[in-house]
Amino acid sequence: MCSLWRGSLLTLTSSLNRRVFQCCRQFGRSYNIASCMPEAVAFQGVSDHSGLYKFSVNESDRFWGAVARQRLSWISPFHTVQNCDFSQGKIKWFEGGKLNVSVNCLDRHVHTCPERVALIWERDEPGTEVKITYRQLLELTCRLGNLLKRQGVRRGDCVTIYMPPCPLAVASMLACARIGAAHNVVFAGFSSEALADRIRDAQSSTVITVNQGVRGGKVVDLKRTVDQAVQNCPSVQQVLVAMRTENTVAMTDRDVPLEEEMMKEDVVCEPVAMDSEDVLFLLYTSGSTGKPKGLVHTQAGYLLYTSLTHRYVFNYHDGDVFGCVADIGWITGHSYIVYGALCNGGTTVLFESTPVYPNPGRYWEMVERLEINQFYGAPTAIRLLLKYGDEWVQNYNRSSLKTLGSVGEPINTEAWEWYHRVVGDGRCPVVDTWWQTETGGICIAPRPADPEAEIVPGMAMRPFYGIKPALLDTEGGGGGALCISQAWPGMARTIHNHHQRFTETYFQPYPGFFFTGDGAHRSKEGYYQIVGRLDDVINVSGHRLGTAELEDVVNQCPAVAESAAIGYSHDIKGEGECLPKTRSGKIMRRVLRKVVERNTDELGDLSTLDDPDSVHEVIRGHRRLR
Ligand code: PRX
Repeated sequence: MCSLWRGSLLTLTSSLNRRVFQCCRQFGRSYNIASCMPEAVAFQGVSDHSGLYKFSVNESDRFWGAVARQRLSWISPFHTVQNCDFSQGKIKWFEGGKLNVSVNCLDRHVHTCPERVALIWERDEPGTEVKITYRQLLELTCRLGNLLKRQGVRRGDCVTIYMPPCPLAVASMLACARIGAAHNVVFAGFSSEALADRIRDAQSSTVITVNQGVRGGKVVDLKRTVDQAVQNCPSVQQVLVAMRTENTVAMTDRDVPLEEEMMKEDVVCEPVAMDSEDVLFLLYTSGSTGKPKGLVHTQAGYLLYTSLTHRYVFNYHDGDVFGCVADIGWITGHSYIVYGALCNGGTTVLFESTPVYPNPGRYWEMVERLEINQFYGAPTAIRLLLKYGDEWVQNYNRSSLKTLGSVGEPINTEAWEWYHRVVGDGRCPVVDTWWQTETGGICIAPRPADPEAEIVPGMAMRPFYGIKPALLDTEGGGGGALCISQAWPGMARTIHNHHQRFTETYFQPYPGFFFTGDGAHRSKEGYYQIVGRLDDVINVSGHRLGTAELEDVVNQCPAVAESAAIGYSHDIKGEGECLPKTRSGKIMRRVLRKVVERNTDELGDLSTLDDPDSVHEVIRGHRRLR
C-alpha cells in the first residue's frame, strides 16, 4: 500500500496554482448563517461557515439529527442518530426511523407544487426535449410500482434496470423505492457479459430495459443485449421493455411491454414504510482485484446526504434548472440527477446525448435552450471541447449559469481555467467535487454557498459538513493516503454478499479510518488536492475500470498466457486503456488480430467502435513494441 501511494505522490503537481478565486462576489460579504442553513440557528455558538463545519464534525449527532429531522419527511422518527464502528465495517444511521424515499422525492412536492417540472429529458436530437412535472412523475412511478407488484416483485427484491437516461428509468428507480425493492442500475453501455454478471450477483428476477437506445444519432439495440445476458441468468423471470424508438423488437413469453401494461395500473400506489437502513440500491463498481463489487446504499442517510450536498455544493435554489450530464448508470447520476435533486424539489436534466452531437456546441446550446443554472460534467469532456475552440461556446447565451461543477477525475489547470473563463465567462464558481461510489455523495468541494469560500484552480478544496479527512502515511510535503476518520450518513454500508471484502478494502488498510483508495495533498491553508488512485484502478474518462477485469478479458484469447493492464496518461481521457471497444463495451478482437498480423489495411468496418481513434493508438502501441 505505502509504496503504491508513494509512487503516485511523486507525480503530484506540487506547485499549486496560487491564484485564488473568491466566490463571494455574487453574494456580498455580509450574511446570516440562518439564511445559509436554517438548522444552524439552533447550534449554539455557530455564526459562520467554519463554525458550522466544526460543529458538524465535533457534534456530529446533533448536526445530523437536526438536519435529518428538518429535511426529510419521516413516517416514524428515528431514535438513534448513528451507530457506527469502523472496525467491523458497521455503519447505521437514523435507526428506528421509517420513511419512504419516493415520498420524499415526489409526494411532498406534489402537495406544494404539482406542476413544477421535475425532469427535463434532453433527448439525443437537440430541441426535442420532454418535460415531466412532479405530478406526472408521481403518476408514472405509482403505475410502475403497481406493475412491478403485479409481476411479483416484493419488498427486499432487487430489480435490474438497463436503460439510458429517460423519465421511465427514473420512474423505475423510484417505483422500486416506493414498493420497498432495491434497484441495480447497470450503465446501458455495458456488454451482455457485464450485465449478466451484475444480474446474477444481484439475483434479480426482473429486468427493466428499452427496445433500443439512441445516442449521438446512432441506434443501439439494448433489448438484444439484455436477451443475450438473461440467457445466462436463471433468476430472471421477466423483462419489462419500454419503447424508446418505434422499431419493434422480438418479444418472448418472458417479455412484458412496459408502457402498455403500466397504463392498465392505478395512479395510486401506497408507499411502503422502510427502515432507515433497508437497502435502497446496489451499484456495481470496479475494484483493483476481482469482480466488480455491488456497493450497497441504504434509505435515509443516503437521501439526506445527497440532498444536502446538492443544495450546498452547487448552491441550488428553488426554481433552478440543474444540468448534470452524467449517465444515470453511475453514482453521479443516482445522487445528483435523481435522488439529491428530486429530494430538494429540483428541476433536473436527463441528458441522452454526447458532448459533440450534433456538434461541439451541444452542451452550451442546451444550456441556452433549457436555461440551465448549474452545469455538472466531467473533465474529460471539458478537455475534449476546449480543443474545438471558444467559438462553440461563445455562440450561445450562457447567462443563466451560476455554478459549474466537475467530477470523476482530477481537473487539470488548463481545463479548469477554460471552464471558468470561457464557459462561465469568469463569473461562475467552478466546484471541483471529489467523491466516489462508496461515499454516496460529494465529500470534498469548495462551497459556493459560503460567501467566504475561496477557490484554487484544480483543487477540490474543503471537506463538506460532517466529513473529517485524514492523510495517512504522510511523507512530508503534506501528501498521503486520503482517509476519512468518522462516519457520515451517505457512505456505503457494505458490498452485497461480501461484507468481509468491504471491511478488508476500506477499513483494514488504516484501522479506525475509511480508506478511499486515493492519494491527496493538503496545502498549508488546509485545502485538499486529489492526486489520483493509489491502487490499480484505472480511471478512463472519469469511469473506473479494474485492471483485473481487463486482464480477464485479454486472458480469454488463446494466444495469451499472461497479461497486465495498466493505465497510461492520455490528454483527454486522463488515462488510456487502449482497447478498441464497441459502444456496448465489447472488445473488437478481429481488429486486434489484424493489427498483430500487420494487416492494418484490412481492418474492415469500424463504424460500431465507440472511439475509432483507439485503433490508431493500438497500432502505434504495437509498432513501439516491435
Ligand atoms: O480516484 C477518484 C476519482 O474517481 C474515483 C471514484 O470513481 P467512481 O466511484 O466511479 O465515482 C466517480 C464519480 C463520483 C475516486 O476514487 N475522482 C472522483 N472525483 C474526483 C476524482 N479524482 C480527482 N478529482 C475529483 N474531483
